[in-house]
Amino acid sequence: MTSQMDAVLSVRNLTKSFGGVRAVEKVNFDVAAGGVTALIGPNGAGKTTIFNLITNIFVKEDGRIIFFGRELEGMSPVAIAELGLIRTFQSARVFPGMTAVENVMIGAHRLAQRHGFSQTLWLSSSRKEERDTRATAEALLDLAGLLQFRDVHSTDLPMGAQKLLEIVRALMARPKLLCLDEPAAGLNDTETQELTNLLRAIRQNGTPILVIEHNMSLVMNVADHIVVMDAGTVIATGAPKVIQEDPRVIEAYLGTEHHAVP
Ligand SMILES: Nc1ncnc2c1ncn2[C@@H]1O[C@H](COP(=O)(O)OP(=O)(O)OP(=O)(O)O)[C@@H](O)[C@H]1O
Ligand SMILES: [Mg+2]
Repeated sequence: MTSQMDAVLSVRNLTKSFGGVRAVEKVNFDVAAGGVTALIGPNGAGKTTIFNLITNIFVKEDGRIIFFGRELEGMSPVAIAELGLIRTFQSARVFPGMTAVENVMIGAHRLAQRHGFSQTLWLSSSRKEERDTRATAEALLDLAGLLQFRDVHSTDLPMGAQKLLEIVRALMARPKLLCLDEPAAGLNDTETQELTNLLRAIRQNGTPILVIEHNMSLVMNVADHIVVMDAGTVIATGAPKVIQEDPRVIEAYLGTEHHAVP
């Protein structure tokens, strides 16, 4: 019980402006171990900016980010990924000229480098390691319903499959926290169901997830905890049932054209 309550990521007083725009202002929230935390809010609320601050792609103005008890202050995005904080991007990023399985295998790079195997590909132990990596990649593709596309060039895949592929690649890095920015955007109903299943399987495996998402039925289906942002600040946090009925949340969504009330 206690370990479920422990935060893997704590965001404290996080603040960032762009020119005159307060994109993120004094934001506080925690991501619990072994669960799914959803970060929701209308367009421009500051959600992606939070990801860019967590991964030090943007430099924060103020605040603290603590990952497994360690301050991420001053660390490079690569060093943060090496700690196991792995993210995907709002628009799918696949490597062109590579098949689906090759795209996934690239995700093991973080681990491979640690073992020095990228420099020693000609050694038989490394060939075995490559075979193992391929087997793991194929098992993960299967989990996401993508095994049929294994040898298809990634850029020939439907957009939804490309987005799922990016998550599978992120899993290859054995994340200690998986951060997903709008994984359901552009997915059809079948792909969204596959995504839901995949997120449940990842959760079941004990990997915590922080997911930005506009698809409310997905959020309400998979999230254990929800953080709601509007105009740079956190306006509510809580369990899905509580959030759905929160008047501030309903008002924030009614004020925008693009998204239904959760
Ligand atoms: N690189 C940047 N330069 C200038 N302004 C930025 C930059 N990135 C974000 N912003 C601004 O910061 C605010 C928050 O943007 P952000 O992309 O974090 O929103 P979001 O919640 O992810 O929205 P969406 O749901 O549309 O993806 C917006 O006003 C946006 O215009
Ligand atoms: Mg965004």
